[in-house]
Amino acid sequence: MSDTKIALVTGANKGIGYEIAAGLGALGWSVGVGAREQIRRDAAVARLRDAGVDAFGVPLDVTDDSSVAAAADLIAERAGRLDALVNNAGITGGGPQQPSSVDAAVIRTVVETNVIGVIRVTNAMLPLLGRSASPRIVNMSSSVGSLARQSGPGGETSTGPVAVAYAPSKSFLNAVTLQYVRELADTNILINCACPGFVATDLNGFRGVRTPQEGAATAIRLATLPDGGPTGGFFEDAGVVPW
Ligand SMILES: NC(=O)c1ccc[n+]([C@@H]2O[C@H](COP(=O)([O-])OP(=O)(O)OC[C@H]3O[C@@H](n4cnc5c(N)ncnc54)[C@H](OP(=O)(O)O)[C@@H]3O)[C@@H](O)[C@H]2O)c1
Repeated sequence: MSDTKIALVTGANKGIGYEIAAGLGALGWSVGVGAREQIRRDAAVARLRDAGVDAFGVPLDVTDDSSVAAAADLIAERAGRLDALVNNAGITGGGPQQPSSVDAAVIRTVVETNVIGVIRVTNAMLPLLGRSASPRIVNMSSSVGSLARQSGPGGETSTGPVAVAYAPSKSFLNAVTLQYVRELADTNILINCACPGFVATDLNGFRGVRTPQEGAATAIRLATLPDGGPTGGFFEDAGVVPW
C-alpha cells in the first residue's frame, strides 16, 4: 500500500468541494473527486491534474446506494484504504422555504442529500477508513444549522434567512455527526463538522462574500488533523461554532 494519503471529497466538481480537493492535492494527497455527472467530473479531474494534483474521478451520487457502493469498490481497488472522507456534497432545495408553506417534498429531498447521503457514504467508506493509520471524517455543515446561533441575537446576519429545509438539514447533520463520534469513540477516527462561511458558489447564486478557496480552508484543516486532534467539534475559520 502506498504511503500517499488518500482522500475522497464528495461534490468535488465545483465550488468549495473542488477547492478542498485542490488544497489536499497541493499537500501531496491523492484525491478522489466524487461527482455524479461525468462531464463535470472529468473536467474537474483534468483541471486538478493540470494544477499538479494526483486526482482521480469517482462517480458518486450520494443519494444512490449502488453508486456509493461502486465508489467504495473503486477506492478499495485503487488505494486499499481511505485516510480522509470529506462529506461536502449538499443542496439547499431552493427557496423560499417558509415553514408555514413549504412543500414536504423539498424537505425530503434536502434531507436525502444532506443527511442520509452523508450516512450512506460514511457507512460505505468506514471499512476503508478503518485501514488508515490516521482516519478523518469531515462533514460540511453550516452555521445556519447552529441552534445556538439561531436562538441567539443576530438573526439573519448570523444564520441566514428562514429556510426550513436547508437549515434544519445541517442541524440534523450535526446531530448525526455526534452519534458517529459516540459510536466510534474507541477508534482513532477523528470526526468533525466544518462551516465554510458565506461563500460565493452556485449554491447561493454566487451571493456569498468569501471565495471557495477560503471556504475550503477549515475542511482541509480538519481532514489533515494530527493524531490527538479534536473530534466531535464544529469549526469555522474563527474557531468553534456553538451547536
Ligand atoms: N456556499 C456557502 O455559502 C455555504 C455555506 C455553508 C455551507 N455550505 C455547504 O458547503 C457544501 C458545498 O457547497 P457549495 O457552496 O460548494 O455548493 P455548490 O457549488 O452548489 O456545490 C455543491 C456540490 O454538491 C454536489 N452534489 C449535490 N447533490 C449531489 C448528489 N446527490 N450526489 C453527489 N454530489 C452532489 C454538486 O454536484 P452537481 O454539480 O452535480 O450539482 C456540487 O458538486 C454544501 O454541503 C453546502 O451546504 C456552503
